[in-house]
Amino acid sequence: MSDITPRVFSGVQPTGNLHLGNYLGAIRKFVALQESHDCIYCVVDLHSITAQLVHEDLPGQTRSITAAFLAAGIDPKRHIVFNQSRVSAHAELAWIFNCVARIGWMNRMTQFKDKAGKDRENASLGLLAYPSLMAADILAYRATHVPVGDDQKQHLELTRDIAAKFNNDFAQKIAEAGLSTPIPMGEGQTVEGYFPMTEPLIEGPATRVMSLKDGSKKMSKSDPSDLSRINLTDDADAIARKVKKAKTDPDALPSEVAGLAGRPEADNLVGIFAALAERSKAEVLTDFGGRAFSEFKPALADLAVQVLSPITGEMRRLLDDPGHIDAVLKDGGERAGAIAAKTMADVKQIVGFLG
Ligand code: TRP
Repeated sequence: MSDITPRVFSGVQPTGNLHLGNYLGAIRKFVALQESHDCIYCVVDLHSITAQLVHEDLPGQTRSITAAFLAAGIDPKRHIVFNQSRVSAHAELAWIFNCVARIGWMNRMTQFKDKAGKDRENASLGLLAYPSLMAADILAYRATHVPVGDDQKQHLELTRDIAAKFNNDFAQKIAEAGLSTPIPMGEGQTVEGYFPMTEPLIEGPATRVMSLKDGSKKMSKSDPSDLSRINLTDDADAIARKVKKAKTDPDALPSEVAGLAGRPEADNLVGIFAALAERSKAEVLTDFGGRAFSEFKPALADLAVQVLSPITGEMRRLLDDPGHIDAVLKDGGERAGAIAAKTMADVKQIVGFLG
């Protein structure tokens, strides 16, 4: 037997600057989960070379995401924080999963279609296999829960497809190796297998933080306009300035949530306020309904500065001491590596690789 314990895993790519959307949609959730689960948080540097091979400062980007994790309150002693390339099991398991997954599964991924664009033949093979590496990240730890944004739901389904095919194709080998364990399949059902059916933890209302310049587009690190997003490296002045310059419409705020329909910019700013204040949009509108944006924006700017500046300040402080960050990643990598090594040994035995 080889029991599965509840465990959280998630990854963030070291590309571009982290912004408010990453914080409210992902990192804040990572912090909260520490109270209820064993958590592993990974800076996925292997993934970062799938879309773009050469980066100007990959070590700096990796440290910057790590600093954001720590500054937001992730405790690298009670939990694990590391960068993916340090633990070779990710790449090894991904290779085996490349042979489990089917090309058709990968071709259907909407993120691949978006990122590859028109010239699919010219996309890297790594970009196509990206979800297989992501499945390896998660299943190297046999993680049961993965906090992610909405856009990663399809990749999580594919992770379950890979786990299910592995469990099924190797069922006899898993049993022979004495590694079979009951896998919960939902609705009280279980099947025998080795890898769990990992569930996404997808956040409610605040997951989708939209651009400050266009309420119909997601806030993104790749948007050419820096005014479209609040970066986690912005200081208080920059945060306040960006909120004040955010796009709005001419009307006052409605008193009820229904009044936000068809007003994407108003909806986004109220949503950001609600998420930062940890209140509902309805509660925010109880306070601000009928008020003009000229009154709402300064309140939002103050709140954003109040919530974010301790984090951005701590991030800057941490980034002044890269040696400390590197030591955190090394320690995390050693502890992650020990867990993943056990999985790799099991998987090699199941597949039939000697050694
Ligand atoms: N694909 C994820 C994203 O772009 C990043 C990622 C890689 C990830 N491996 C993961 C997320 C494992 C969760 C679990 O956001």
